[in-house]
Amino acid sequence: MKYRNIILTGFMGTGKSSVGKLLAEETGFVYRDLDALIVAETGKSINDIFAEQGEQFFRGLESKIVSRVAQDRGQVISTGGGAVISAENRQLLHAAGAIVNLTAPISEICLRLEGDADRPLLRHANSRQRIEEMLAEREPYYADADIRIDTGGKKVEDVVAEILDFIRRSG
Ligand code: S3P
Repeated sequence: MKYRNIILTGFMGTGKSSVGKLLAEETGFVYRDLDALIVAETGKSINDIFAEQGEQFFRGLESKIVSRVAQDRGQVISTGGGAVISAENRQLLHAAGAIVNLTAPISEICLRLEGDADRPLLRHANSRQRIEEMLAEREPYYADADIRIDTGGKKVEDVVAEILDFIRRSG
């Protein structure tokens, strides 16, 4: 395979974790979730980090973890929805492997995130409007990918099959 790692990017609720876990099984790669690594390293939940230290501090931790995992190989890396905002993170991730951006129609994203208490950025404003604004702001960063896959209405298995097909075609 041409790529050292497969990196999943995308907004909250686009299916990175479920797709990533199955993709890891199918490829034999190790599954790594950036948020889970941050929680393991700090011993704190993402919510608590945001509440106690703020978003900038969280972004610093996220970048540290990105630069660490980017040195490894044989991983399916699920990134947090905001990890690709940083140009430096994007550059490190591009150099580390294939960037697969998962998308979903806004209505589906809203449904999947409804009542979610674990996403601090949506905690106080889990509204369609806020989600639309964030998606628009982040669109250029999500577009900076090797392939974009719409997960809307698809089974996890089908999304994984599309990714595997892309990886095979890439040589
Ligand atoms: C964030 C997405 C979350 C998590 C944090 C910030 C974002 O990850 O990293 O709450 O800025 O979009 P998921 O995309 O896995 O929910």
